Amino acid sequence: MCCNSILALLALIAGFGAIIYLIYQTYSYIRCGCGKYGPFVSSYGKIKEDIINEARKILKNSKKPLKITDLGCGSGALLIPLAKEFPHHEFIGLDWDVVPLMMGKIKSHGLKNIKFVKGDYMKTSHADMDLIMCYVLKVTGEPLGKKLNAEIKDSCTVISEMFPLGHLKEVKQINSSLFGVPEKIFIYKKQKAASKETQPEKKTKTAPQKAKPAQTARKKPAKKKAASSAKK
Ligand SMILES: C[S@@+](CC[C@H](N)C(=O)[O-])C[C@H]1O[C@@H](n2cnc3c(N)ncnc32)[C@H](O)[C@@H]1O
Repeated sequence: MCCNSILALLALIAGFGAIIYLIYQTYSYIRCGCGKYGPFVSSYGKIKEDIINEARKILKNSKKPLKITDLGCGSGALLIPLAKEFPHHEFIGLDWDVVPLMMGKIKSHGLKNIKFVKGDYMKTSHADMDLIMCYVLKVTGEPLGKKLNAEIKDSCTVISEMFPLGHLKEVKQINSSLFGVPEKIFIYKKQKAASKETQPEKKTKTAPQKAKPAQTARKKPAKKKAASSAKK
């Protein structure tokens, strides 16, 4: 009898948990534009460690305090271990979903160099960041890369987990894996504006050269006329 009531209670708790989880997943899917942006999935395993190692290389070489953000930080899986290791750097987690943000705040309790901010990374400026990490969907890579390339500093490094970003200058690709499946990490810098400006210059130089043959062609009939009048 007692055993049966314990089993019934456990089943009730599991059922309640499953309903809450389903409601959250539905909310998360709608919140993320029905597939336009990535829902909350935490970085995990080897790829998480490889990203943290890559960020560590940048952070340990700087005595000057740096600003680091994770765009769509979730519960802070990438930021919290780094914030613990580098107390003189400043870490900002940005996410629009209150559930993972709350988890991040609880997990990082007591750490003074990390804050979790609610917001949309497409509507927030990242101009003063020194290191940006993100784990976004493939479709988000294009508009997010464009936005970042327009506003980040030349010295800023962008690390993207699994999916490439558009417009930025790729400086490195790292082979990693998630649950044994090969995955990549992409490292970017800002695409220098100067390289864009040189292209229109080349076009304007070549344009007058193309026009030259047309001018000489017009002169030829005049010579023929002169020759025929001399014959006469
Ligand atoms: C795949 S999870 C990555 C979580 C974390 N970066 C990690 O590596 O563990 C993507 C997160 O981005 C958030 N997100 C998606 N679009 C966003 C947006 N436009 N602005 C802010 N957060 C966004 C989601 O709520 C989700 O928590």
